[in-house]
Amino acid sequence: MYIIAHRGSSSAAPENTIAAFDLAVKQRADYIELDVQMTMDQHVVVIHDDTVDRTTNGSGLVKGYTLDQLKKLDAGSWFGHSYGNERIPTLQDILERYSKRIGILIELKHPKRQIGIEKAVADIINKFAYSRHIMVQSFDETALQRMKAYAPSLRTAFIIKPSMLKMAKSSLAVYSSFADCLNMKKTMMNRCWIDRIHSFGMDVFIWTVKDQKTADRIKKYPIDGVVTDHPLFFQKEK
Ligand code: G3P
Ligand code: CA
Repeated sequence: MYIIAHRGSSSAAPENTIAAFDLAVKQRADYIELDVQMTMDQHVVVIHDDTVDRTTNGSGLVKGYTLDQLKKLDAGSWFGHSYGNERIPTLQDILERYSKRIGILIELKHPKRQIGIEKAVADIINKFAYSRHIMVQSFDETALQRMKAYAPSLRTAFIIKPSMLKMAKSSLAVYSSFADCLNMKKTMMNRCWIDRIHSFGMDVFIWTVKDQKTADRIKKYPIDGVVTDHPLFFQKEK
């Protein structure tokens, strides 16, 4: 079972920063998960929200900033004073730093509001030799279909919420045409569904584990990966 550090090791360091990703490597996670958005000047940057307000000392929309302007923001002090030098990374920064060290699960955030993000991400990924260790995920199936067109050997994960779940065979057949994995919300975990998804050749990931009790429950299921803020909850299982 892959241990996937959600926004890096985000319980112990500011999410989606080098500090959180370095910690995930140190804690021997298998993957880092990160979120991408586009800047005003069409660079792909790593940040969860569509505004900078929660996780930096700036305010306003990510797409209201150029990359140079975004790079001046402090992306760590909100979490702790010792993180004041953290900056919003670009996807290119992350692939350069980590693609040979740890798997990378890239989430396309709100792709309908980020015109062209699929092509921009594919152009960056395609510069790197990749196989199983770089994946792209999204709640948006059209975005994943586009990613497969731009990067045919790229592995993709379709993130699903309970409201999106239609576990009919016909739905799973459609999902399996553009996704190598279904990433299910933890409240949806069910042995029957897991087996059914596996029978369509897809892996099963679970998001997002934030407490030890849920971690212990999840370990009993035959899943392929767990997205967690606490990679150390799972280390003994490797
Ligand atoms: O892996 C799925 C998870 O990352 C989706 O939720 O809001 O943390 O990006 P969010
Ligand atoms: Ca995410």
